[in-house]
Amino acid sequence: MSDQLWVSFQQDLSAICSAEELSEIRDKYLSRKNGLINLQLRSLGKLPPAERPAAGQQLNQLRQRVETALVSRKESLQAELLRLRSESQAIDVTLPGLRPVRGRIHPLRRVRQEIEEACVSLGFEVVAGPQMETDYYNFEALNIPRGHPARDEQDTFYLDNGLLLRTHTSPVQIRTLEARQPPVRIAVPGRVFRRDAFDATHSPMFHQMEALVVDEGIRFSDLKGTLEQFTRALFSKDTQVRFRPSYFPFVEPGAEVDISCIFCAGGGCRLCKRTGWIEILGAGMVHPRVFEAVGYDWRKYTGFAWGMGIDRVAILKYQISDLRLLFENDLRFLGQF
Ligand code: DAH
Repeated sequence: MSDQLWVSFQQDLSAICSAEELSEIRDKYLSRKNGLINLQLRSLGKLPPAERPAAGQQLNQLRQRVETALVSRKESLQAELLRLRSESQAIDVTLPGLRPVRGRIHPLRRVRQEIEEACVSLGFEVVAGPQMETDYYNFEALNIPRGHPARDEQDTFYLDNGLLLRTHTSPVQIRTLEARQPPVRIAVPGRVFRRDAFDATHSPMFHQMEALVVDEGIRFSDLKGTLEQFTRALFSKDTQVRFRPSYFPFVEPGAEVDISCIFCAGGGCRLCKRTGWIEILGAGMVHPRVFEAVGYDWRKYTGFAWGMGIDRVAILKYQISDLRLLFENDLRFLGQF
């Protein structure tokens, strides 16, 4: 009898694969009321008295074997569960990692830093000014009175609050001269705004850097020497500088400044339109009217100033074909710098 029970128990046990099924089997064989082993024990009375002790002993042994088997199956189930879980959550340390995208310095910021460093190495201090300006600082004090044709060239964004978006960095000349005493040596990088259509060579927002030096005895030769040193620091040590007479209301004399082409070293190529020169900035000696506007004695003080486009330098240095690339934040473009 107990042999048969043992065989059927083993069959049942081998079929289970969860803790619930295990406890069902425990009930089936060991439950006090209906467990198969207890039922057998209770029916021992039907056997002839001589057979009862042996049969009882066998059933008790069977109960112990069943209990031991259940315990060890329970342990093996738990071990299996653990193994499955750790397999599904395992980290494969041999897999290649995900490369995080590395940020880079924007080409405009890079060029601006290079320009600032070139200025600082020449003794300039880098300062900033407001992007919202008054008509007075942006035009009037720079000798650009109302009705002056230079106003039309710099098509201006006027704001509802009576201010305007500065069209150049030159107003910071006025603000600085008002706030300080000579000697003044400043470099002013920053954003400027003009009502231009957005195309390959124009943007309604771009960047300039203004330089201003004011002291006693500053001469045009100081401007030339400073610009020579500056462009050599920025481009290469054999960069040549050329001055062409030009007009800006806030300087006299004024000049447009070219550098020898950084691509063909002056030989003539597509990028300098075969001239060997590239126009890079406007410059001149500070106009007496500017000194008057800030209350300086122009017989005592003289100075020079220049203004240049930072975006233009970036486009030149990196041979960027379209200005818009600098403002679109396309990572495929920015990742090249
Ligand atoms: N402010 C001028 C512009 O935006 C550039 C410029 C020309 C600045 C000559 C100067 C200068 O300081 O001397 O077009």
